[in-house]
Amino acid sequence: MENLKTKLQSVSQGQLMVFLEDLLPEQKESLLRQIEDLDFQKIPEWVAKYVKNDGLLKIPDHFDPAPSYPSRPKTDEQGEKYAKATKAGEDLIRQGKMAGFVVAGGQGTRLGFDGPKGNYPISPVKNKTLFRIFSENLLAAAQKYNTVIPFYIMTSPLNHDTTVEIFEAADYYGLGTENVFIFQQGTLPNFDFDGRILLAEKDKIASSPDGHGGSLRALHSSGAIADMKKRGVEYLSYWQVDNPLVSVVDPLFIGLHVTDDAEMSSKALLKAGPTEKVGNFCLVDGKVTVIEYSDVPDEATHRKNPDGSLAFELGSIGIHMIDVSFIEKLNKDGDFALPFHRAVKKIPHIDKKGDRVQPETPNGVKLETFVFDAIPMAKQSVILQTLRENEFAPVKNAAGTDSAEVTRQMMTGRTAAWLEAAGVKVPRKSDGSPNCTLEIAPSFALTAEDLKAKRDQIPEINPGDKLYLG
Ligand code: UD1
Repeated sequence: MENLKTKLQSVSQGQLMVFLEDLLPEQKESLLRQIEDLDFQKIPEWVAKYVKNDGLLKIPDHFDPAPSYPSRPKTDEQGEKYAKATKAGEDLIRQGKMAGFVVAGGQGTRLGFDGPKGNYPISPVKNKTLFRIFSENLLAAAQKYNTVIPFYIMTSPLNHDTTVEIFEAADYYGLGTENVFIFQQGTLPNFDFDGRILLAEKDKIASSPDGHGGSLRALHSSGAIADMKKRGVEYLSYWQVDNPLVSVVDPLFIGLHVTDDAEMSSKALLKAGPTEKVGNFCLVDGKVTVIEYSDVPDEATHRKNPDGSLAFELGSIGIHMIDVSFIEKLNKDGDFALPFHRAVKKIPHIDKKGDRVQPETPNGVKLETFVFDAIPMAKQSVILQTLRENEFAPVKNAAGTDSAEVTRQMMTGRTAAWLEAAGVKVPRKSDGSPNCTLEIAPSFALTAEDLKAKRDQIPEINPGDKLYLG
């Protein structure tokens, strides 16, 4: 123990053991275990680089807009490439080489929902939760392609046990327990502005999840990658927990990623305006790189092409394809580390006197890594544009933009568009929005094309109807 104390003092963190003598034996043991788990070698560097200094995440001097594939082919040649890629993607799904992967370790504080965000009920008619929607989509895709598509879910200490309970209680939404792998991401200690790690309790270090970038390590350390290799899974379809419109396995995206020999690829949206708060896809030294909206200089944010479109028009929406071999490669290299992003926060803690403090103003720093910072480490990276109305309706806030209400409207809106494409008349209000509430079970149709084939099973829709096609 003296040894540990000296070690802590050598990295200026002696405060963590100040209350040791006040603790019960099991509390003492728990705190010592947490201290032993700290990365003593890295802490001084983190403090100097990221805690005491906020300008070290350097924005490159020169960056260009990143090239991308449009959501629909623009030339015959491209049309052929898309058709071949779709076929290749379908073959890979059929061969059991795909898995679904959702990052669900975040706190979801903005939504004000108690519990894992994945358990938030969102579908317009049946009120299905996000986890149920993703699982039913994966199951329907597996049935469509006559294969198995396992589902990997990353949680954090904030919500791991509850997430496991939710899946158990729902009988794994029909996927089979053997096809669901739930694992936890890592955590990082929280610091005060002087670089001292805070105590959340006398026996507990204040810490928080290490960001979705932590998935690249946790997939490996949890045994998820080993599980994929045993099953012959080679590619991960990655998405964020808040987006019920995501296409959980998209043959075109999979196919373009693989035929272009990419290791990590992304879907992108055309931004709604120059300042939409999404990461921007850029090209830095020939490598696709996401630069957060807040870090892009004003001139670049507003720069226009000769045709009036935005120069930096591609926004990141947290949808990726990742090669299993890429994640393995990163983890083999001992030096693999994503840069930290620094967030100044109000962090509840125990002060020097042992009193509990609930700060009213920010008092410290949380560190996080972002998964898209791995994109430039890939030998090749593809960007495929997608359409907001088809694939992006994140539920983030209790009201206003990105609220549950907007998400539900967008879910009904997409169903309405699919139905109309199948020749079904959908009643609409004078502002053009559907005058009905609509939902399709993934087992009924996964795409607009699937729905067309079921045209004769669709009843007439009257104004005000609530229709569930299942
Ligand atoms: C994120 C993106 C933003 C993008 C937007 C699209 C970042 C930094 N920003 O913003 O560019 O336009 O989504 O919706 O990613 N998560 C974990 N563990 C963590 C932290 C987060 O699993 O430690 C998961 C969350 O559960 C969620 C996802 O990562 O599924 C995104 O996190 P969130 O904090 O909601 O990101 P946004 O700020 O909304």
